[in-house]
Amino acid sequence: MSCKPSAVSCKLYVCICFLTTYSWRLISSKKRVVSGITTSGELHLGNYIGALQQFIALQSEYDGYFFLADLHALATVHDPEKLRKSIRSIANLYLACGLDPEQATFFCQSALPAHAELGWMLNTISTMGELSRMTQYKDKSAGNANDSIQAGLFTYPTLMAADILLYQPKLVPVGDDQKQHIELTRNLAERFNKRFSETFTVPDVLTPKQGARIMGLDDPSKKMSKSASSAANYIALVDSPEAIKKKISKAVTDSGTEIKAGKDRPALTNLLTIFSELEDVSVADLEKRYGGKSYRDFKSDLADVIIATLKPVQKTLEELETDPKYVDDILAKGAEKARPVAAKTLAEAKTAMGLG
Ligand code: AMP
Ligand code: TRP
Repeated sequence: MSCKPSAVSCKLYVCICFLTTYSWRLISSKKRVVSGITTSGELHLGNYIGALQQFIALQSEYDGYFFLADLHALATVHDPEKLRKSIRSIANLYLACGLDPEQATFFCQSALPAHAELGWMLNTISTMGELSRMTQYKDKSAGNANDSIQAGLFTYPTLMAADILLYQPKLVPVGDDQKQHIELTRNLAERFNKRFSETFTVPDVLTPKQGARIMGLDDPSKKMSKSASSAANYIALVDSPEAIKKKISKAVTDSGTEIKAGKDRPALTNLLTIFSELEDVSVADLEKRYGGKSYRDFKSDLADVIIATLKPVQKTLEELETDPKYVDDILAKGAEKARPVAAKTLAEAKTAMGLG
């Protein structure tokens, strides 16, 4: 029998080569998005609606780089056990909420030293003035004397700029509270490109049209936050159905009895936004559905919608918790995929600044 390839197999080979090249081009021509979540506690509905839902909606259309911002967590968490637990629990939650490691690149920020290196380089082109104007820094340091404010809290946004610029993304999907940090990132990229040489893509921020700032259940004038002093402020993604029912029934409402959104009705606007985002129905339709009904009926249905959304997430979470190696492998593979991308930008930035 002849070992020479037949004409048919040659054609097949050419065809496979063409398809491989073409599909690779399709993948690599996808626009890139980058975002992260700080591993400093439990994730809540605000993170889910403002960030995770966006990541998951974008992952098939974009080349997504989504990471665990564990270096950022060091700005507030100095308890190693608490940090390890939060990293593990948020990694599991990303996956349980639907992040697909086959489509998106998922890793820990601390696995790539390039983040800290570029963070330092960007510190050297940032000013004390612009960093002191960051509202997150102002809120977190309020009431403390300069002597006791951690430098890491102050330079937090330059590390965030490094996280983003390393991957040359087109878009950065975040909640409302991070917009100012992305604006700073854009300024730093433009400054660097002008002062040294064209190195970084200047990314755009992407916030959801609705739900970019979910407010606290106990106080609708403040955002829902994992660092809130009371757990009544938020619904954690791991809260039990009983806890969810209790928190929603106790959630602050506005005066009056109408189930209506509006500038003068911040509490109901917030609850309606959560309902609308989780059930994919407009606020106007909900207002119609609950016209003439009581706060009690509305809240009871809202609690059911939240419980139904979180049920499959919590079920997957339970499974993932029994297999830590599975999640570790995904993070390790993600880091390996991110490494050359980050290394290329870092090398270009170093050369531009005169380091090599
Ligand atoms: P953090 O928990 O601060 O690390 O935030 C992770 C992501 O969730 C960021 O994109 C935030 O903008 C978003 N996020 C945090 N809190 C809220 C909130 N209350 N409403 C909407 N998005 C939020
Ligand atoms: N600082 C962000 C937050 O707390 C998390 C984060 C760190 C991030 N690096 C990032 C978000 C880069 C977007 C892009 O929400």
